[in-house]
Amino acid sequence: MQKLLLKNKFTAMVFAIAVFNSFGQNALFIPDTLSGTVFNLNVQNGTKQFYGTNNTPTYGYNGNFLGPTLLIKNNDSITLNVTNNLTQKTTVHWHGFHVAPQNDGGPHQIINAGATWSPKFKMRNEAATFWYHPHGDTKTEIQISKGLAGMIIVRDNIEATYTLPRRYKIDDFPLIVQSKAFDILYQFATATHEDSIMMVNGTIKPFLQVPKQVVRLRLVNASADRTYYFGLSDNSNFNLIASDGGLLSQPYLTNRVRLSTGERAEILVNFNNYTLGQQIYLKSYASQLPKGIIGADSVGTPAILMAEGYYSNSLNGADFNVLRFDVVAQTANPVLTIPTTFAPKIPLLESSANVHRNFNFSPDTLFSGQQGKVDGPFFINNKSFNMDSISIKTYLNNTEVWKLSNNTMVAHPFHIHDIQFYVLDINGLPPPPQYQGLKDVILVQPKDTIRFITKFTNFADATVPYMYHCHLLHHEDEGMMGSFLVLDPNAIGIKELNNNQNDISIYPNPATDLVTINLKELKITQQLDMIVYDVFGKIIYSSKINSNFFNINTKNWQRGIYNISITQNNISTHKKLILN
Ligand code: C2O
Ligand code: CU
Repeated sequence: MQKLLLKNKFTAMVFAIAVFNSFGQNALFIPDTLSGTVFNLNVQNGTKQFYGTNNTPTYGYNGNFLGPTLLIKNNDSITLNVTNNLTQKTTVHWHGFHVAPQNDGGPHQIINAGATWSPKFKMRNEAATFWYHPHGDTKTEIQISKGLAGMIIVRDNIEATYTLPRRYKIDDFPLIVQSKAFDILYQFATATHEDSIMMVNGTIKPFLQVPKQVVRLRLVNASADRTYYFGLSDNSNFNLIASDGGLLSQPYLTNRVRLSTGERAEILVNFNNYTLGQQIYLKSYASQLPKGIIGADSVGTPAILMAEGYYSNSLNGADFNVLRFDVVAQTANPVLTIPTTFAPKIPLLESSANVHRNFNFSPDTLFSGQQGKVDGPFFINNKSFNMDSISIKTYLNNTEVWKLSNNTMVAHPFHIHDIQFYVLDINGLPPPPQYQGLKDVILVQPKDTIRFITKFTNFADATVPYMYHCHLLHHEDEGMMGSFLVLDPNAIGIKELNNNQNDISIYPNPATDLVTINLKELKITQQLDMIVYDVFGKIIYSSKINSNFFNINTKNWQRGIYNISITQNNISTHKKLILN
């Protein structure tokens, strides 16, 4: 019953799924909620029995696996206390949140074992579905796969005005969808294409009792790399009402919604159209996914994927059940109608953009030595992620158009922190309805070019970066990620002194008794040294500089010409001072 999977870098022994198929259906687990303005999360080790009585080592937030759903109100000032009870570092990223980089939980906000991290911020995002998950340098896949993921539901006064299901666990359900692989020791296997065990909220073969009325399903794809193409088993229509950044301008009636890793969708299903006791499945119609998307029947070069086990995974290219719905009696005060419009989502105008940037996903797998590889490493603009360097510097209130071009043979879901964006076009064509709302992840298929527009508002910091990356967790861990700083052009402390006289202003000059030195744009993170020499090269004055702005009393100095030398990072910059 076991298959041996040999890969270039990984050897994993993975269970055949027949073992799991012998189990019956299980009631869908619905995570508890936390609400208010202070949220306490403990990152902990656990075990869970997914398979008979065998223990699988897991991680969870406040429990064994996954985490509580956080209910947050827009405009609230919140504190999140995250205590790391693991024996290794972690981070917690609030995926989709518009927060300062220090609060973002990217790879730079490390929470050491035993430590507590307590970001505080105002909830600026509008009502939408978000999620939280670890983002440690090279550790994202293993930590998410072992159970670190939770849903966040943000609510606001506008969404509250619509007649929509919003009673958690009654007519509004979180669905964290993941595909997993287990090894022979019942441990989660990562970096494998044998992720053939489907779970929703950590439940294998789940069923959910749904009332005979309009029900809201909040879908998060928290898988390592699989894309789903959701639909109902009878192929009937449902309404997509929200994407990553909240409600669309109007519900979109469709029978399919595609979700790549990191993306969210809120859909309304009218179970009043079914009879009591009827069973309907939420399925993924992966046979209909285009080639190149992980989860489709074909991606990369067949021979390589054969060796990597992609084609022996029964989910790839197949239509499979994700969740069974059992229709039960209507609740009191049911929602029975679907709104026709919401507040319009109006994209920024392309003409308002002041910066255009290009992002190329490489290597070009057709022409490089990597023919057909889907495991990477892949790069963005030919660079691999580096914790200590900054890929891009942008400025506060820039409006930018980012053009994403995928030259590889595999589709990559591109995600950006800090902001959300509007898709301008996909291969020159306007985006389909599913992508017309605010997004923070967009799947870029092989050979596709996608442009989006965004504005970098509210938060600037001279040293702490945000991330952009591929949300295939293995690609992210292998470096398909970059960092960006948002700088405030009016703030001090954004440049390093690099032999440019204009970075030092001295006034008055000529001076008499008092000289002011202003380094207003310089970053004073490393200490600067200042030395003043006279015309003979003799040191007249020296000092450490700890601020951007200071005075020197020159009352008792000889009148004449001086040379002011300021050194930062071993680079000296000189400027003349005249006393008269
Ligand atoms: Cu959901 Cu940078 O991640
Ligand atoms: Cu990727």
